[in-house]
Amino acid sequence: MTTVATPTVPQTLLERSIDMLACPYCGAGVRHDGERIFCQDCGKAFNIDSGIPQLFAPHDPAQQKGDVTQIVKAFYEENPFPNYDDIDNEESLLEKARRGLFARLLDEQIPQGAAVLEVGCGTGQLTNFLGMHYNRRVFGSDMCLHSLRLANGFRERCKIKNAGFVQMNLFRPAFKPGVFDLVVSNGVLHHTADPLGAFQSISRLVKPNGIIIIGLYNKIGRLTTDLRRFLFRVSADKLAFLDAHMRNKNYNKDRKRAWFYDQYKHPHESKHTYSELLNWFESNGFEYMSSIPKIDPGAFTDEEKLFEPHDKGTKLSRWFTEMEMLMTGGADGALFIMIGRKNRKTQ
Ligand SMILES: C[S@@+](CC[C@H](N)C(=O)[O-])C[C@H]1O[C@@H](n2cnc3c(N)ncnc32)[C@H](O)[C@@H]1O
Repeated sequence: MTTVATPTVPQTLLERSIDMLACPYCGAGVRHDGERIFCQDCGKAFNIDSGIPQLFAPHDPAQQKGDVTQIVKAFYEENPFPNYDDIDNEESLLEKARRGLFARLLDEQIPQGAAVLEVGCGTGQLTNFLGMHYNRRVFGSDMCLHSLRLANGFRERCKIKNAGFVQMNLFRPAFKPGVFDLVVSNGVLHHTADPLGAFQSISRLVKPNGIIIIGLYNKIGRLTTDLRRFLFRVSADKLAFLDAHMRNKNYNKDRKRAWFYDQYKHPHESKHTYSELLNWFESNGFEYMSSIPKIDPGAFTDEEKLFEPHDKGTKLSRWFTEMEMLMTGGADGALFIMIGRKNRKTQ
């Protein structure tokens, strides 16, 4: 009698996508033996902590500008961001994400079957939300293991099959170049020593004709946060109620703390302009598609086509957009988001 071997069914998104991963030290492919991940070239072995491959590699000392990565990593290990509320579950995450127009439009407009990477996913809300779609693969990466454990814990509790989390340093990616249809990094690059270098590093992961989404603190819009930071410092934080998030009754203690520390006690942040980010896009082979807040006239509505080309405006109109951010109080930390498409010929 012949015995037919039962094929083993890959369990997790990471097991199904092992061919997309790369050794963060030498860039070669990796293999997985169920317990650890091994580089197929240099032979380095990487542990898997509660389902999270630990593919973090520190900066090459020769390239390192200061030790910002280690300082920021230690900060987020103490203050995982944005953290979860006590009652968070699949429905509440869906409801919150859909209330924020950007996440809803993103979810609706990502092409079927896309491979998505979130860089600096923190506690993984966006990755988990996007990973609820049946026909998509969504990876969340961050260097902070504490945040990733919260992210992956939520994913497991809610049985989100198409999301997975990886610990990595964005300067030493643990994925092969050109494997993602979409790379999104919101509120991350401005916490590195070299935001342009960080952009260049993650932009290599995007396929030709794929999409990149970058959210950064705005130089002008964030002046209100700078003023509040000063007031909090001189009042020994007694005026913290001036920040609307600190008065939000729907936030639990952990979320309020995460917000307060992220906005007002951060060890490292830089601020950027629309024109600067546009220049990063264009000099690295990306065409401008759209932004939030919009540069072109008209309100940002639920009809907005995120991945279609919009007018990139002039230096002056982009400056007006930034002034408007300031005049409207620099809501949500004055992040602006820019979306670009990689030219077909760019590697
Ligand atoms: C402000 S949080 C943003 C979290 C999430 N993107 C959001 O919008 O809620 C910044 C995140 O970037 C991560 N980060 C900063 N520098 C990084 C690096 N070099 N490699 C990987 N992650 C990094 C931090 O660990 C932190 O979780």
